[in-house]
Amino acid sequence: MKHITNIKDFFKFRKSITPNLKIGVVPTMGHLHKAHLSLINNARSQCDIVVTTIFVNEIQFNNKEDFLTYPQNIPSDIQLIENSKPSDCQTMDVIFTPSSLEMYPNINKMTKVMVEKIDNSIEGKSRPGHFTGVATVVSKLFNIIRPDIAYFGQKDAIQCILIKRLANEMNYPIDIVIGETMREFDGLAMSSRNSKLSKEERELSPFIYKVLKNIQTLFEQNPKISSRELITFGVNEFNKENRMKIEYISISNFNGEEVEFITDSAILSCAVFVGKTRLIDNIILKLE
Ligand code: PAF
Repeated sequence: MKHITNIKDFFKFRKSITPNLKIGVVPTMGHLHKAHLSLINNARSQCDIVVTTIFVNEIQFNNKEDFLTYPQNIPSDIQLIENSKPSDCQTMDVIFTPSSLEMYPNINKMTKVMVEKIDNSIEGKSRPGHFTGVATVVSKLFNIIRPDIAYFGQKDAIQCILIKRLANEMNYPIDIVIGETMREFDGLAMSSRNSKLSKEERELSPFIYKVLKNIQTLFEQNPKISSRELITFGVNEFNKENRMKIEYISISNFNGEEVEFITDSAILSCAVFVGKTRLIDNIILKLE
C-alpha cells in the first residue's frame, strides 16, 4: 500500500506508471464503511492500481458545524483498506490524502465547476452550493489522478447523475461505475454520518427506508398515481414519527429532473434530519 499526501508526489507517482495499466479511483471523505470497501473491492477486481482518495471537502458543506464535526480517522481508514484486500489480489492500493490548503490554496477566489440545472433540483436547492462543491473537487481529483474508471455509490443518487454529466460534458475519458446502496441489517443505508447518531437516533433511523418502501408499495399498487400523491403519502408517513424532520422527498428522472408521473422508472429520494444529523436515501421506482 502506498500513501501519498500531496499533489506533487502524486504527479511523480502518476508519471512512473506504465501506460497500459488500468487505474481506478474511489473518491471518499473518509470514515470508511462496508459500502466504500465494496467499491474498493470492485475497483480491485477491474483495475491494476486503485487509488482511494480521502478528503473532507470543505466547499461542499453549506453548514460549517456539519463540516467541523464530520467524522475523520485516516489511520483507521488505512487499516480497513488493508484488511479488506483479498489475499490473492495483485492490485496495487494507493491512498491519496491531500490537505485542504493544498487542494484550495485560494479558497475564496478559486475556479469552480458548476453542472447546469443540478443546483436547481430539489436536492440542490436544499443545499445551496453543495453540488458545485462536489463537481469542483471531483474535477480536481480526476485531473490529478487521471483514472480510467471512477467508482461512486448509488446512495448519493443525484451526485451520481452529476458526476456522469460532469464526465460526459467535460470530456473526461473516464468510465463511471455506480455501486448499489449497501444497507445495515435493519435497512438503514450505510453512511459515514451514521456514526454521528445517538443510540436512540440509530434505532429510529431505519424508519427512513421503511417509508421509502411504503411509497414503493403504494406506487406498485397504483402505477398511474402522480408523484405529488406519492410524495404527500410519504410526508404523512414521516410525520407519524415526530423525532424526525423531513427536508424533502423527490421523484425525479435519471437526469435529476422532477417528474409528474412515472412512465418507466424514477428515483425516489429523501433527506431527513434525525436529531442534528442529515441522512439521505433513495430507491428506484420501476413499472412492472
Ligand atoms: O460522496 C462523497 O463522499 C463526496 O461527495 C465525494 C464524491 C468524495 C466528493 O467530496
